[in-house]
Amino acid sequence: MCGIVGYIGKREAYPIIIKGLKRLEYRGYDSAGIALLNGDLKIMKKKGKVSDLEGTISGENLHSTIGIGHTRWATHGEPNDVNAHPHASSDGKLAIIHNGIIENYQSLKTELEIKGHKFKSETDSEVVIHLIEEIKKNNNCSLEEAVRLSLQEVVGAYAICILSSDDDKQLIAARKGSPLVIGVGDGEFFIASDATPIIEYTNNVVYLDDYEIAVIKNGKLTLKSVEDVPKTPFVHTLEMELESIEKGGFEHFMLKEIHEQPKSIRDCLRGRLLPKDNHLFLNGMSQYMNKFLNTDRLIFIACGTSWHAALVAEYLFEDIARVSVEVEYASEFRYRNPVIRETDVVIPISQSGETADTLAAIDLAKSKGATIFGVCNVVGSSIARASHAGAYIHAGPEIGVASTKAFTGQVTVLAMMALILGLKKGTLSESRYRELLFELDTIPEKIQKILEDAEPIKRIAETFQFAKNFLYLGRGYNFPVALEGALKLKEISYIHAEGYPAAEMKHGPIALIDEDMPVVFIATKDATYEKIISNIQEVKARKGKVIAIVTEGDKDIHNMAEYTVEIPKTDDCFIPLLSVIPLQLLSYYVAIYRGCNVDQPRNLAKSVTVE
Ligand code: G6P
Repeated sequence: MCGIVGYIGKREAYPIIIKGLKRLEYRGYDSAGIALLNGDLKIMKKKGKVSDLEGTISGENLHSTIGIGHTRWATHGEPNDVNAHPHASSDGKLAIIHNGIIENYQSLKTELEIKGHKFKSETDSEVVIHLIEEIKKNNNCSLEEAVRLSLQEVVGAYAICILSSDDDKQLIAARKGSPLVIGVGDGEFFIASDATPIIEYTNNVVYLDDYEIAVIKNGKLTLKSVEDVPKTPFVHTLEMELESIEKGGFEHFMLKEIHEQPKSIRDCLRGRLLPKDNHLFLNGMSQYMNKFLNTDRLIFIACGTSWHAALVAEYLFEDIARVSVEVEYASEFRYRNPVIRETDVVIPISQSGETADTLAAIDLAKSKGATIFGVCNVVGSSIARASHAGAYIHAGPEIGVASTKAFTGQVTVLAMMALILGLKKGTLSESRYRELLFELDTIPEKIQKILEDAEPIKRIAETFQFAKNFLYLGRGYNFPVALEGALKLKEISYIHAEGYPAAEMKHGPIALIDEDMPVVFIATKDATYEKIISNIQEVKARKGKVIAIVTEGDKDIHNMAEYTVEIPKTDDCFIPLLSVIPLQLLSYYVAIYRGCNVDQPRNLAKSVTVE
């Protein structure tokens, strides 16, 4: 959802900014632009990918040691060269890049137009730089002060970065609701929406908080609040490896991330699960155990794939820990006047830790006194910091827009939480707990086994690449997997797909079934196996094409379905960790056969930092 990059230091800014934009391109890719300062302000921007921008500016004099760059995911104004960032002030001396939405931009714009400002773009972002210009002129103040005063008038979400041709030793950044990280190097600073453009230069980062303004001037970083209160920058050390944000020989990030799952789950379990010692420990959870033990319900809030992980959690926690669970779309929860009690434990799940709706839902739950236990991937993200406690999934950076390893990491953490709580509450016997610990430990190898035999999935993808619709059906633990499989296909191949609880099919979707409809059954040998066989028969009777994900050695479904994909056997409660893998691969290969851009599907953004 827009990526922003800035550099100020001794090196050439342009290559750092372009590289940073490529690293952030997963956040938005409908246009890109950069501004460099070398005496004058030079703004270059272009509709399309960062590579399109690069193509148009080759041969220009790009010498500069200070600059900003932006990759856009359009909110206000269609993607075109004019609406691309950076945007300049009327006098052409100031430039801004912005991620977020300025909600009161229309009224600000009208006031500024009355004062003679002329706008080139349809964006909300351009209004901010004109406002800063106007306030600076009227108050005859420094740029820093003008930014501060302007932000007091702005309603909405922003991460901004501003430079001025009057001072090539100064870069100003600020945030509210949209992420911003500052890399602190040796006499140089890197600004970015997340740490990925920064880590090859420095591991030392400062996360900006809401309502904070960072002023980097003459090689020094100072922080203050919008209310003019000085703040002390706290430097964190990043543990991310550079290889983790590169493709490592895979054609796409998505494929790399699918294949990383044995490792990412192992990383998630590391130090937490030691089955031989009967040990399972989540530090954040142990600190808040009383809250977990004293609540009679857990509320999960999430969006997209993370919401599907939350649905798996509903099965896990009710089944294992006998606590009632509510699963909420963050976007609905926040506007629904939900009943939230002080005893509630609210569990936001988020890969990025920056999803605006999830953050707003957390604020609401917090304001009612609930305990917030975050399950995030990105360390230091806004949701992680807004939570009272939490558990990271440690999946490493997920760059592919379609979430894969984050889902299995989330389910792994949620399964661990349910096991810990079940044991503490006595709803899970010690012997079953022990059995489940050993089984959880085998999951990475079992995923590896599925990944090693992708050929049948590729063949199915080739066969159905031209399908117009797909239906995904599952029951019990596999119902959320059906939703996730359908979402994956929609996201990257643009085929219409619906996920449904298999038994619900007869209340509607069965009307869609004919000989052209591929129906993916997630039909593993679990508690609902016999029931789902009947559902398969119902589809076959209507000539639907059955593709079934089955437990290895299942002859019965093999004889019924047109296509089967086998996965290893596991306990019911861990099945989603295995059954989702063939569906991730299926969507990937269908998209490849259809020639789709897997890592940058149209209209989507990896991190949705606007409502
Ligand atoms: C976007 C992404 C999805 C993701 C969802 C929630 O829609 O494209 O892959 O599942 O946001 O994101 P979060 O970072 O909160 O898990």
